[in-house]
Amino acid sequence: MIKKCLFPAAGYGTRFLPATKATPKEMLPVLTKPLIQYGVEEALDAGMDTMAIVTGRGKRAIEDHFDISYELEHQIKGTSKEHYLTEIRDVITKCTFSYTRQIEMKGLGHAILSGQTLIGNEPFAVVLADDLCHAPKGVLSQMLDLYEKYQCSIVAIEEVPKEETNKYGVIAGKEIEKDIFMISDMVEKPDPKDAPSNLAIIGRYILTPDIFDIIKTTKPGKGGEIQITDALLTQAKKGMVLAYKFDGERFDCGSIDGFVKATNYFYELEKEKN
Ligand code: G1P
Repeated sequence: MIKKCLFPAAGYGTRFLPATKATPKEMLPVLTKPLIQYGVEEALDAGMDTMAIVTGRGKRAIEDHFDISYELEHQIKGTSKEHYLTEIRDVITKCTFSYTRQIEMKGLGHAILSGQTLIGNEPFAVVLADDLCHAPKGVLSQMLDLYEKYQCSIVAIEEVPKEETNKYGVIAGKEIEKDIFMISDMVEKPDPKDAPSNLAIIGRYILTPDIFDIIKTTKPGKGGEIQITDALLTQAKKGMVLAYKFDGERFDCGSIDGFVKATNYFYELEKEKN
């Protein structure tokens, strides 16, 4: 069973300045819930209860969010507003949170390696909170089912327009079952003309712990950063890494366009509930 989920959350969120000047980008809300809480709930839904968060300077609000606010609790106890805290209370009760800081920004691979101290020697999930997913069965739950069967690292993928491959890690592979690909190649943010396919990695990973040693020997790649995509290609060549075309919706909340789409989508869902 996979119990731990890692959240790289040290990035600056420059695309959302000035909102992210003093607020972590992971705390930007879609409706009333911060992005990172959606990710934590997806992990919890998949049976994970240990959240490991890689933070950086200026990210204190994340820690405060996943903690009791005694003043607030006291203020609203017994009032009609108490229910606003139900969901976050539930999350706090069911999970533990631990934090470590990524001291330098050297890429996603480096961020994941920074989390090794919180993960140890066991398989784990990774959620990039700015990829917000919505599916009847959570994307991480879908991936865990696959992990049960194959016991190897898995990345979630979706088809993107070919001209957008330069925003993602892109895979090539053989479809071994419907929507499941055995990876033979992976390239970080290729130009459309060099992309091996239009199957883009989105921010959900299941990783086996040997990935840490591989990252340690992975040279800086695209943008001079240590890329998880490059480390995973090494792992795929040594053994097996799968790519899974998940069932559900995904919004790139790292972009304004995706953020607005997510907001409208979740707003419509809320309206349907009421
Ligand atoms: C990261 C990964 C990339 C992946 C993407 C998914 O890029 O490096 O391979 O496709 O997340 O959101 P970033 O968006 O952090 O630049």
